[in-house]
Amino acid sequence: MEFPAEPFRIKVVEKIQKTTREERVELLQQAGLNLFNLPAEKIYIDLLTDSGTSAMSDNQWAGMMVGDESYAGCKNFFNFARAVRDIVGFSHIIPTHQGRSAENLLFSVILKKGDLVPNNTHFDTTRANVLHNEAIPLDLVIDEGHDPNLDHPFKGNMDVDKLERLIADKGKKRIPLIMMTVTNNSGGGQPVSMANLRQVHRVAKKHRIPFFLDACRFAENCFFIKEREPEFASKSIPSIAREMFSYADGCTMSAKKDGLVNIGGFLAMNDDTCYRAATNLLILLEGFPTYGGLAGRDLEAIARGLQEVLEEDYLAYRIGQVRYLGELLSRSGVPILKPIGGHAVYLNAREFLPHLPQAQFPAQALAVALYREAGIRTVEIGSLMFGETDPKTGKESYPELELVRLAIPRRVYTSMHMQYVAESIAQLYRQRQSIKGLLLVYQAPLLRHFTARLSEVE
Ligand code: F0G
Repeated sequence: MEFPAEPFRIKVVEKIQKTTREERVELLQQAGLNLFNLPAEKIYIDLLTDSGTSAMSDNQWAGMMVGDESYAGCKNFFNFARAVRDIVGFSHIIPTHQGRSAENLLFSVILKKGDLVPNNTHFDTTRANVLHNEAIPLDLVIDEGHDPNLDHPFKGNMDVDKLERLIADKGKKRIPLIMMTVTNNSGGGQPVSMANLRQVHRVAKKHRIPFFLDACRFAENCFFIKEREPEFASKSIPSIAREMFSYADGCTMSAKKDGLVNIGGFLAMNDDTCYRAATNLLILLEGFPTYGGLAGRDLEAIARGLQEVLEEDYLAYRIGQVRYLGELLSRSGVPILKPIGGHAVYLNAREFLPHLPQAQFPAQALAVALYREAGIRTVEIGSLMFGETDPKTGKESYPELELVRLAIPRRVYTSMHMQYVAESIAQLYRQRQSIKGLLLVYQAPLLRHFTARLSEVE
């Protein structure tokens, strides 16, 4: 197993707190066994998300000091637009305060009621923004992408036959754009191959349908392409990124991931009409086109983060650290989703806790136990997040998988922290029989996982 030594040294530190098991039992009680309700100060290792949680470099912090806070035409916007354009190559760059606002702008100008949006797998906010515009999100990931134990180098690929069939059946008029999420977060942080991007590009071009990337984790995707597609073994990461974006007509981006910043995003595209419509909406919703809901200093931090994220030693460390955690867990026999993704390791809770039925929220039970025993926060991706109670019959529907995501913030935790996480989970695996199921005490009608309250089954 390769040990991913950090390609940086630490100049500023942030104290994190260890709590006692008794304190955590009490805190969990107060939180209604919902980890979103915990005070973050009471968490030792926080793996809730890799979004907005990155550590910025000294160079990015220095950039914050040269923030130009002019309302219009600040110099940082030009640095930002140049850095983005160097990577994506699109003519128009619109800053936004985060990814979902870029999605909202794009879909508001491009979708109409009853339209269809194919994607490999929509992320929750992308799906919600499609639905909000009264269109229908469709997930066309390859069949291999659904099997948690199957090893496949590019499990995020789109099934191109399904895409062709969809266009033939429904007609291209109902499909105003095709999207691809790189890497595929909802499918386990799995990459998309360049070969697959080329195929989707060909289909999109043939039918003259715009093709957009949801590019949050584009650099991590490029690293996998270099590692796994022989044609790219000796190509540089920036050149792989340029080729990747060359197949698309635009992209949405949450810079909170591969922008290496705590806030920010953008929408980029070539089409002039679409750009003009999106800009008008931007002014209404986010701000003037040279700041788009961000401060000048934020734009500068993104401009610099986008250069750093393409450095190969950074990416080797980044992907290596996530893989290191996954391999430590695998070696202890802990069931995880395979292969290990780019930004997170996913525990397979159905295999971890076979004694708990889906009705007792096994993935949430596991996430709660992990906080209680080790002070580690993760996120449930299972029946609490995706299950639904039919308001008429009270009948529950369940998702296919029960997962616990360990999302790794960028440049934040050391490899020793990863060992702590792996050992804590291995210990919990040895005492898994003692983990009890959970019951819902309160649920909201929509997005229930954020505010639900639960209790333990006695
Ligand atoms: N697309 C993908 C693939 C994402 O993973 C996210 C956010 C977004 C869009 C939306 O970006 O948060 O800046 O508005 N994912 C975070 C996560 C929240 O935890 O996976 P945003």
